[in-house]
Amino acid sequence: MTHSDLSTDLNQLTNLLAHYPHPLIIFPEVDSTNKWLLENGNHGAVCIADRQTAGRGRRGKEWQSPSGVNLYLSLRWHFQVLPKHYSWLSLMVATLVAEVLQREGIQGQQVKWPNDLYYQGKKFGGILLQTTQRLEHVVIGIGLNINMDQEPEEPITQPWCSLKSITGQVLDRNQIASAIALELSSYLERFASLDVDTLYNTWQRWDLLSQCSVVVQGSDHTLNGIACGLDSQGRLLVLDHQNTLHTFSSADVSVRM
Ligand code: BTN
Repeated sequence: MTHSDLSTDLNQLTNLLAHYPHPLIIFPEVDSTNKWLLENGNHGAVCIADRQTAGRGRRGKEWQSPSGVNLYLSLRWHFQVLPKHYSWLSLMVATLVAEVLQREGIQGQQVKWPNDLYYQGKKFGGILLQTTQRLEHVVIGIGLNINMDQEPEEPITQPWCSLKSITGQVLDRNQIASAIALELSSYLERFASLDVDTLYNTWQRWDLLSQCSVVVQGSDHTLNGIACGLDSQGRLLVLDHQNTLHTFSSADVSVRM
């Protein structure tokens, strides 16, 4: 992408989000949109970059963030009080992104617990929640491979795909970015009032692991079993081959199929 394309692109994004009710910050390049909002943002602020030089992934990994092809979007939200079902938030953000993409015409995506976006065994998106010193002030970061069709400079260490490879079409990053920002801020207004049954019903529509054989990897243990949904806190339930049910928190383990 040339620089003139980039500025046209960024202007178009500003126009699409002209009625976004909170601050909007758009960078051609930034280290990490999450980091920027953690240090600078106000309630509701959205930060989008064309490229990140130090994109952050879950579990301390780097998120490859080349220019011109993907979406790197963060939104900062200040809850008045910590919502009762806060531990569901990152899961529900992933389902919200899956739903927005469905409305944009994309089909076949699923969410791999806790919050990875997958298509046919390959990851195309991820969510990273980070809080400030105050737990109720959260930055929600969303990374989506949209039109990326080549491995970035630093190879990605797991099978990946992009919305372009899924649909065979070049997609409008700005359209997707603005739909996500608007949907997410309106969802966050309602989140604290939702009950667990509602959250779980939504989750079940997108759950990739449901009833699948999984391998759960913790720091000092590995468990093979069948994924059997989530408990009331959004933790993964896995039934092992001795019929014992185990509960895993996303901070402690990673899961393979
Ligand atoms: C994951 O590892 O699956 C989570 C990836 C989250 C990446 C996004 S890109 C926008 C935001 N800014 C960051 O530095 N990370 C998140």
